Amino acid sequence: MKKCLLLGNGGREAVIAEYISKGFSLYSVLPYENPSIVEAVKNSGGKYIIGSPFDKELVKNFIEEEKLEICVVSSDNLLQDGLIDLAKSLGLKVFGPTSKGAKVEWSKTYALEIVNKLAPEVIIKNYNVKTIEELNEAISKYKDENFVIKPEGLTGGKGVKVGGVHFSTKEEGYEYAKSCLEESGTVIVQDKIEGSEFTVMCLTDGKNVVPMPITFDYPYRYEEDKGPGTGGMGCMSYPNGLLPFLTKEDVDACAELMQKTICYLNKDNIEFTGVLYGGFFKTKDGIKFIEFNARFGDPEAINVLNALETPFTEVIENIINGTLTKENCKFKTTYTFTVYVVSKDYAVKANKEATIFKLDEKEIKNAGVKIYFANAKKIEENTYTSVSNSRLFAIATSGENFEEIRQKVYDTIEKNVDKILDYRKDIGKIYVH
Ligand code: GLY
Repeated sequence: MKKCLLLGNGGREAVIAEYISKGFSLYSVLPYENPSIVEAVKNSGGKYIIGSPFDKELVKNFIEEEKLEICVVSSDNLLQDGLIDLAKSLGLKVFGPTSKGAKVEWSKTYALEIVNKLAPEVIIKNYNVKTIEELNEAISKYKDENFVIKPEGLTGGKGVKVGGVHFSTKEEGYEYAKSCLEESGTVIVQDKIEGSEFTVMCLTDGKNVVPMPITFDYPYRYEEDKGPGTGGMGCMSYPNGLLPFLTKEDVDACAELMQKTICYLNKDNIEFTGVLYGGFFKTKDGIKFIEFNARFGDPEAINVLNALETPFTEVIENIINGTLTKENCKFKTTYTFTVYVVSKDYAVKANKEATIFKLDEKEIKNAGVKIYFANAKKIEENTYTSVSNSRLFAIATSGENFEEIRQKVYDTIEKNVDKILDYRKDIGKIYVH
C-alpha cells in the first residue's frame, strides 16, 4: 500500500484522513492527538508522531525514515509556509500547491490581479490601498458604511469585515482598514454588493479541472448570519451539484475562470495541484468574484468528500499522475449536511481556559451520523478538551431527503452534545445579503 503523509489537524483533515485511510497507509505529524486522524492512521496501518507540522526538520526526518511517497496538504498556513515545496524537494508526489501557487490565497491583491486579467467582468469595484493617503481617498468615495475591508494575508476566515454587519459607521470601517494597513502594508477596500454567496471547489492535477458539488457555507457566528466571521459554522450541498439560486451556466462560468486560473498559475512550472476554492456571489448583475483559497474549505471538505463516489485515493493517484478527468472523479447525487460544534466563546472572546466537555462518540456514530474532530483531544473515556479557541468537532451526514438528514444531525446534537457547547441552529437556510 502507498504511504501517504497528511499534514494539518482540523475537521477538514479529519475527513481527508478518513478517505485516505481507505486506500493508502496514512502518516501524520500532529501537534496533538486529533481523535479522528489518530483513528484513521491506526485503521490504515500507518503511523503518526506528535510535533509541529511547521517544523521542517521534523517533517523531513519523518518522510525519510518512513519512506513516505505522497504528501497531501490542505491547510492555508502550511501551504504558505512551503510544506508542499519541502515534500516535492524530497521526491514525494504532491496534492496541494507550492507556496508560490498558494499565493492566490495568501495575497488577496495577487488573486484580484489574476481575475482582473482573466475575467474582468466578475471583479467588484475595489481599491488596493498601500498608503494612508490612498486609504483616505478610497474611503472618501463612500457616503456611508457600505463598503468591505479585506486584509491582504491569511486570517482564517475572520479578517474580512462588512459594513453594516461587522462595523456600523464609516469611521469604524476606516479604523479597521487603518489597522490592517499598519499590519501588512496593504488593505483592500471594496464595494459592498448584494447577493447570495456560494463556493465552487475544483480538484486539479495542474492542467485538468473537475468541479465538485457547489457548497453553501455559514461564515457568521450566530443564527440569521449575525455576529463575527468564523472559519465556518456549517455547510450543505445538493444532489444536482448546484444550489437553489444557481444555474448550470452560473457554475460553468465560475469553473471556466478557475480552469484559466490553473493554466495561468502553472504556465511556467506546475505550482498548483489539489483544490482551488473559489468564493463567488450571485448578484442581479451576474456572478461576482470574492476570493480564491488554495485548498479544500473547512467544513466544505466534509460535505464534498462524503459526496465523492470515486475512492478519494484513486482521485489522488490521478492528480499526481496528471490524468484527472470528470469520468475518473465522480460524485454521488446526494444532499450533504454538516454542523460545527464550538465553545460558547468561539470567535467572540479569547478564552484562556480550555473547554472540557463530555461526549459519547459511540452514541453519535450509532445515530447514523459521522463525527469529525477538529481542535479537540480526548483526555479520558467520553471526556475531551479543546486545544485552542477554534472549532471543536463537526457532525455530518448525507442522504436523499434533505429534511431527514438535517433533522438527524440536529437530533443527534441535541441529544448528545454537552450543553456547555454551542452551534448554529439554522444551518440549511439560504441567506441573501
Ligand atoms: N469555510 C471557509 C474556508 O474554509 O475558508
